[in-house]
Amino acid sequence: MPRTARKQPLPLDQVRRYLEPGPVVLVSSCHAGERDVMVMGWHTIMEFSPSLIGCVIASGNHSHRLVRASRECVINLPTSDQIEAVLGVGSTTGAEIDKFEAFGLTPEQSSCVGAPSIRECHAQFECRLHDDSMVGRYDFFIWEVVAARVQARPRHPETLHYKGDGVFMVSGEVIRRRRQGLK
Ligand SMILES: Cc1cc2nc3c(=O)[nH]c(=O)nc-3n(C[C@H](O)[C@H](O)[C@H](O)COP(=O)(O)O)c2cc1C
Repeated sequence: MPRTARKQPLPLDQVRRYLEPGPVVLVSSCHAGERDVMVMGWHTIMEFSPSLIGCVIASGNHSHRLVRASRECVINLPTSDQIEAVLGVGSTTGAEIDKFEAFGLTPEQSSCVGAPSIRECHAQFECRLHDDSMVGRYDFFIWEVVAARVQARPRHPETLHYKGDGVFMVSGEVIRRRRQGLK
């Protein structure tokens, strides 16, 4: 189909399907002896240094309460072969079950925050709350990554990317196009 083909109107609640961001992640948290993990499909890098990440953690989620109270979390990166755990974590609530146990995820001690890291994940980014000024209005949290660990191989793991309504993309071919001025 030519690039200039006529465009169809899109219902506004479907815009998210086309502006899909980075990989699906698992956000782990704990507060006052309670721990939880949720799936997050939408997040955005806001600054490189300090490393700032913005995201919505809906107030209906049990995790919202834990991260708001503790002001910490760990953003863990699962790979595509972990899709069953992702679906399980994303369709249940920690208010009712211990999702670490239910979905075979091992909580391990983090280095800088109280929230546990998930051993089975490819990467673990420990976060402290940087700015909560938009939480009341939009459930939008801005996190600063204060410690990060990643598996050395594979360099570009196959990750899941969420398009909504149960549709996922799997990351594919990596291409390099170096050019002066690119960051
Ligand atoms: C693929 C996927 C992506 C999701 N992305 C988000 C998100 O970005 N923000 C959010 O608040 N909830 C998101 N959710 C929903 C939560 O992960 C889900 O409500 C979870 O069960 C909450 O668990 P909790 O009550 O234990 O915190 C997503 C769910 C799935 C399956």
